[in-house]
Amino acid sequence: MPETQSTLITGIGQLVTNDADQGAYAALADAALIIADGEVAWTGPASRAPAADAVVDAAGRAVLPGFADSHAHLVFAGERSAEFAARMAGRPYRAGGILVTVEATRAASDATLRANLRRLVAEMLRQGTTTFECKSGYGLTVPDEARALALAAEVTPEVTYLGAHVVPPEFAGDPAGYVDLVRGPMLDACAPSARWVDVFCEDGAFGADAAAAVLAAGRAAGLGARVHANQLGPGPGVQVAAEAGAASADHCTFLTDADVDALASTPVVATLLPGAEFGTRQPFPDARRLLDAGVTVALATDCNPGSSFTSSMPFCIALAVREMRMTTEEAVWAATAGGARALRRTDIGHLAPGARADLILLDAPSHAYLAYRPGVPQIAAVWQAGRLVAGVSTPAAGAAGP
Ligand code: NIG
Ligand code: FE
Repeated sequence: MPETQSTLITGIGQLVTNDADQGAYAALADAALIIADGEVAWTGPASRAPAADAVVDAAGRAVLPGFADSHAHLVFAGERSAEFAARMAGRPYRAGGILVTVEATRAASDATLRANLRRLVAEMLRQGTTTFECKSGYGLTVPDEARALALAAEVTPEVTYLGAHVVPPEFAGDPAGYVDLVRGPMLDACAPSARWVDVFCEDGAFGADAAAAVLAAGRAAGLGARVHANQLGPGPGVQVAAEAGAASADHCTFLTDADVDALASTPVVATLLPGAEFGTRQPFPDARRLLDAGVTVALATDCNPGSSFTSSMPFCIALAVREMRMTTEEAVWAATAGGARALRRTDIGHLAPGARADLILLDAPSHAYLAYRPGVPQIAAVWQAGRLVAGVSTPAAGAAGP
């Protein structure tokens, strides 16, 4: 079907639009939506839907904005299942495991890295993720970081330079020298492929001064800032993010009251990554405390081979609802509109006329099923910029009912 044709999706039992005041969670019952030219052209009651060139009957099922996964590490080789198994047997998570993946990634060919990356991207799309961020951080030399970012730029515009992931072994005796490389020649080689700069600000990775220096250099090179903050223990990451004007502070697992205040009083989004707490057996972040303080919260997968090897936003939503006391509405908002905010995107995360037509048809009558039926594949179809990219547009009869 030519893309200029319009498509009417009708019979939508619940249409999550996130189109209330200030973009808060909102949904319509018995709704319809029209896609034209890659955008949402109309939403409203099914009974009043205008005609379109093609019609999809949602048969009472739910339609949501596509997920915006604002934190993922997808360019790598190798795997660390033995490390995961050891953690589940009682060993703690340490940042040092990152170097295992660095070694495998440096040794891998471009073709291997590209194939691994594309497999994960396809996996994400099938699970409803229509926008994703992708970091470097497993190269940690100038050519290896530049290569990771060039590969990431093949699959997403949301590319993040994470040269400051950990200090690589060849700089073990000279961490300051590595910071100079990251904010100097490595940044020069990487900035052209990136939109963002990120730092792992944590004991065992980079302290506050080094993190601030890397973010300042990145910003001077035109990149927006993001920070891995307060993941493994209390620390300066959130304050560094606030001072740098970062779009997002990610993890936010160990926060002081001052950290919560900093998040509430600045536009920094708190991006929570429950897959990492699941995969490291750490306590989950206190989403309720952040939401009650007025902080904007996003959910993302943190997909990586060490702490969180999941590409599934539905899994993260289920964890957030069950383990972090988010309501189903809050969790779905955080995985869609929240992710959009964390990426400073206004064209995605909501389904109002003019938004990009990124949407999911759920094989269920309401968004709540994402947490109510954890682990069950429920993504019946996915549209990205108006194109059907996964699933089928013709539902099976009776699929809506429990
Ligand atoms: O977000 N925190 C730092 N980076 C990743 C972990 C990467 C790894 O263990 O390979 C994270 O959890
Ligand atoms: Fe991460």
